[in-house]
Amino acid sequence: MAYAPYSGFRVGAALQLANGSIVTGANVENISYGLTICAERAAIVRAVATFGPELRITAVAIANLNHAPSPPCGACRQMLAEFTPPEIPVAFPAADGTRVLLFGDLLPLAFHMKHP
Ligand code: THU
Repeated sequence: MAYAPYSGFRVGAALQLANGSIVTGANVENISYGLTICAERAAIVRAVATFGPELRITAVAIANLNHAPSPPCGACRQMLAEFTPPEIPVAFPAADGTRVLLFGDLLPLAFHMKHP
């Protein structure tokens, strides 16, 4: 469902929540390029709007339609940190196929005040 007319890079993200739900998101670009929102952050915003601020993320999966590596960008890692503990698996397309890393390995020393 990505809206990516400028980059042509179509990304999807799926968040598994502690309540058992799966919430998906897609990247949505804008002609003012910096306003683009990534798939991961779109999914987070959707999850909070749907289930409220207490949600916890228990797994993350990322995909793209471009057969390219797409680990979550730095901004998305920081935003995931708000709702995702370090021991949670994150699956994403890498050069050597799908990789699964723990969130704490993707974003060590995350800045946060809620989830040490
Ligand atoms: N993109 C994502 O959706 N997630 C990321 O973590 C990195 C980049 C999107 C943003 C933009 O629409 C396109 O990929 C190319 O950067």
